Amino acid sequence: MQGIKAIDRSGSVSIRASRVRQNIWDLDALLPIDYIIPPHHLELLPSEVYTNFCNLLSRDVYSEGDAQWLYNYIQSRADEMSPEFLAMLDLWLADELKHYEALRRTYHCITGVDFAEMNHQFASRVHEIKPIEMVLADEFTILVTMMFDEIGSVYSYRRDLWEYYRHFGTAIQKIGHHLVKDEGMHFNNAAELLLTKHHHRLGEVKELLEQISVLEKSLQKYHKTFFLDHAQEQYRFPSHFNLVLIRFILARLGLGLQPERLGLQELWQWVPTGYRLVPIFAGDGDR
Ligand SMILES: [Fe+2]
Ligand SMILES: [Fe+2]
Repeated sequence: MQGIKAIDRSGSVSIRASRVRQNIWDLDALLPIDYIIPPHHLELLPSEVYTNFCNLLSRDVYSEGDAQWLYNYIQSRADEMSPEFLAMLDLWLADELKHYEALRRTYHCITGVDFAEMNHQFASRVHEIKPIEMVLADEFTILVTMMFDEIGSVYSYRRDLWEYYRHFGTAIQKIGHHLVKDEGMHFNNAAELLLTKHHHRLGEVKELLEQISVLEKSLQKYHKTFFLDHAQEQYRFPSHFNLVLIRFILARLGLGLQPERLGLQELWQWVPTGYRLVPIFAGDGDR
């Protein structure tokens, strides 16, 4: 771990002399590897909730693990990056790998899929850099993309928590809460680095975010590079999802007004007309 760490009363850890923070929680204490869901939670579940959650996890598990690929890629260009960014990235990777393991355990205890099978699935992934090359131009574009991606994850996990995690008992519900909190901290950490290290380029942020949004909409599928994994589930969210997120990001950087509370709430509560729950389709083997 790089930097001098200090833990505050809320359990958050920060690297002194920077405003990078980390939510501290113990996965083994919350969800041991042999955890079994109390059967009454599963007995009461509507079948669509169970099936949708299995389909959702079959994709989310692995996209969290793709953080290792992105980390390795950025490390291969470490001489272009600032020490503060690389220190933040170490905390970020530790969180994302914890998410990967938390979702592996959740997936295992809900579906029975064993860990060896997940290892096999993960090892066979092909990570394609070309489609997202534009966002990896430099530290600045990576940080802006990180803000976009992490705040998207906050709202999609908030939706998942409400629609799925909370129905599977306290432990799984708490995992969902930590996912939301961690992704929120990743968003804030990227914002702090942009404000302190790249303030001279803040004028470029709005146009870059618009380009990222256009790129994401054009991708059609997720290319297993961690960034822009939302491309595979845009149908679950209102069409103005990215517009609201962009306004939220600009406000966080002091570049605009905060979107209204109801507009933000709609991002995770919206359902298409005629649905009670947005359906989640089974992966096609290309997760
Ligand atoms: Fe994550
Ligand atoms: Fe994250």
